[in-house]
Amino acid sequence: MKKILDLLSEEMGQAFKEAGYDASLGRVTVSNRPDLCEYQCNGAMAGAKQYHKAPVMIANEVAQKLADSRIFKEAAAVAPGFLNCKISEDFLLEYVKGMAAEEKYGLEMPKHPKKIMIDYGGANVAKPLHVGHLRPAIIGESIKRICRYAGSECIGDVHLGDWGMPMGLVITELKLRKPDLVYFDENYQGEYPQEPPFTITELEEIYPAASAKSKEDPEYKASAMDATFKLQSGVKGYRALWRHIMDVSVADLKKNYDNLDVEFDLWKGESDVHELIPEMVAYMKDNGYAHISEGALVVDVKEDTDTKEIPPCMILKSDGAALYNTTDLATIMERMRLYKPDEIIYITDKRQDLYFEQVFRCARKTKLVGEDTVLKFLGHGTMNGSDGKPFKTRSGGVMRLENLIRETREEMLRKIKEGRQMPDEEASQVADIVAIAALKYGDLSNQASKDYVFDIDRFTSFEGDTGPYILYTIVRIKSILVKYEEQGGSVENAVHQAAGGESEKALMMELSKFNTMMQSAAEEKAPHKVCAYIYDLANAFNHFYHETKILGEENKTKQSGLIALLLLTRDVLETCVDVLGFSAPERM
Ligand code: ARG
Repeated sequence: MKKILDLLSEEMGQAFKEAGYDASLGRVTVSNRPDLCEYQCNGAMAGAKQYHKAPVMIANEVAQKLADSRIFKEAAAVAPGFLNCKISEDFLLEYVKGMAAEEKYGLEMPKHPKKIMIDYGGANVAKPLHVGHLRPAIIGESIKRICRYAGSECIGDVHLGDWGMPMGLVITELKLRKPDLVYFDENYQGEYPQEPPFTITELEEIYPAASAKSKEDPEYKASAMDATFKLQSGVKGYRALWRHIMDVSVADLKKNYDNLDVEFDLWKGESDVHELIPEMVAYMKDNGYAHISEGALVVDVKEDTDTKEIPPCMILKSDGAALYNTTDLATIMERMRLYKPDEIIYITDKRQDLYFEQVFRCARKTKLVGEDTVLKFLGHGTMNGSDGKPFKTRSGGVMRLENLIRETREEMLRKIKEGRQMPDEEASQVADIVAIAALKYGDLSNQASKDYVFDIDRFTSFEGDTGPYILYTIVRIKSILVKYEEQGGSVENAVHQAAGGESEKALMMELSKFNTMMQSAAEEKAPHKVCAYIYDLANAFNHFYHETKILGEENKTKQSGLIALLLLTRDVLETCVDVLGFSAPERM
């Protein structure tokens, strides 16, 4: 379906044309003075210079041409030359009916859908997820869902950190603690055990212990580097042990991401491209892209137009070891081969900005990607505590993501129990659903690149610009619909009617923005636009709800129209929360 502002602008443009002016002057926007009018057009102001005429004269002539408009109920020229407009209720009805009849509420699908790979989550094997992993997970998940809804083919990849020094550290510490494990016996010929020699709890304790030791003890660090090297060069026992680390850790990561309703299409990682590295290195050398600098293999990526220093992209360290860059570049090579995406989007902390600039330049220069493949880095800001510094536990440590989720659930449960009578089990199920909404909305309603303060009290509030407020609105609509059916009404047969009052019309106008909003959220990869929209929509609904008799309406045709409007509002809100990555309960 065409966007409502485009239809209004076409009508306005036609009036400009009929009055003898350029049709392109007729661009209509939503009014920034809703107290005066619904839409406005400032074309006469712009046209004044071009036509050497007072803007108000132009505006008057255009307004006259719109006197019988089917689309504008009112178009008034006001000094110094604005056109203040109101939309016709019949036309708005037609538009909203059209929306309701379409599967995606009037959002047009692209003729040539793009294939987009989204690299998000950022989890590292053997390390528990902490609060720093919250943002890339929920922003990435939402961008994936928004783009998918808007018609792109999206592939989400967690791109695990599963191949570097942390693996060597875990292996070194295990060897110290359990030297008799068969994995360390070089002469061992048999099959390795199926059961991992540690639990997730042990694994999570082992990594930080090993990491701390390596910082103090150079010898320990050297053996961890050696273990990493042995693992990467294929020593059998080390590989077998690594498989166990992977299995135990990935199962736990999946559980954690599940809790957040974050799901990946691919669980690939740095290790998956290990075999591609020699080929990539040879290619970069043979084609003269890479050269040796101070013993390391590098690709120069600086450009004449740079205003700051962009260091060369290192491909191999002087000891021949691969780095984070190396696996990322090899992953680009693999993604191009296996999936041929039109776009690859990376979502991580914005502090990796320079790193990705180097990697992208290197990928382009070495032609791992062609001109027509977009590589995009979406850096997000930090989640801060009330002190404005990166969020910490009360004792000042790094908070685990599961604990943050648990605390939010507890607070949500407390608020739910405070306000209503509900069986304990239901209350806790509802609290879990609403808590995820509180966390996600609290995050996504901020522009991703900005920092924000994690304020559990505000995020879990049922009032204001919060997830629980949005869900509360959806649940309110659902409960009216249930009551309507209980009174013998049929929700399925509800038929839209022209708006009977201001608040009803305002709600319809808000609904009519859906396709415009969703398209721009997808183009700009901007979940905060969806949040801003549903906040306005929920406000418009609640205003309408307070002004309107719905269940008590005696005129059945009118009532049926109100119900149809409720249905559409519910569906649009639910669609939006779904692309944000959460859902509404039936009751709350
Ligand atoms: N595991 C990385 C980290 O902890 C994030 C991975 C982001 N994706 C990528 N392709 N580099 O920083």
